[in-house]
Amino acid sequence: MNQDQLKQLVGRAALDYVTPGQIVGVGTGSTVDCFIDALAASGIQVAGAVSSSERSTQRLQKHGIPVLDAAAVTGLTVYIDGADEIDGQGFMVKGGGAALTREKIVADLADKFVCIADASKLVATLGKFPLPVEIIPMAAAQLTRRFAKLGGTATLRAGVVTDNGGHILDVTGLSISDPLAFEAEINQWPGVVTVGVFARHKAQVCLLGGAEGVKTLT
Ligand code: 5RP
Repeated sequence: MNQDQLKQLVGRAALDYVTPGQIVGVGTGSTVDCFIDALAASGIQVAGAVSSSERSTQRLQKHGIPVLDAAAVTGLTVYIDGADEIDGQGFMVKGGGAALTREKIVADLADKFVCIADASKLVATLGKFPLPVEIIPMAAAQLTRRFAKLGGTATLRAGVVTDNGGHILDVTGLSISDPLAFEAEINQWPGVVTVGVFARHKAQVCLLGGAEGVKTLT
């Protein structure tokens, strides 16, 4: 199976976590696109979705799935999203699609984060994938210096403005051995909107697609 087929496989597997009549939290990315398509094809009637990006909102609406404002819900039973990296404990790097801030907001509403990913995303230690950080534009130079002190090289993602009007720094050269402490530290830096380490909002379940099918990591 190629990577696209694995994404479709885990997108379909995530349907097991969707309860008819409930509101589902929906992430962003090519794997989530597969989930949205699978949800539409499944005939499962959800009460609606809370979406983490304009991209996912458009796809949900194209399928006739109502999209609700995050402010209109008090909680979600499940949030389904992809990842750029995930480790064996469910800690993730996210934000390759620049949607990390809204992803963390919607994840925060949910009781359970179900991560859907192909096996290439599983890592022993986070940091190989360039870490996305959404920032306030005027902080870019200072934050670049701060990351350099940690051994990281930050590059402004050219031409990208997030759904919130922020910019994205992609940071290479990091090895994130303590994701909880790292996330807490970076979140304190002035000008950081959201760091793409999801440690406090880690995945409780990971549906990992590989040669032998879908493996469920909990
Ligand atoms: C978007 C994300 C995505 O979940 C992540 O980039 C994975 O994307 P894909 O499913 O396309 O590999 O965090 O901000």
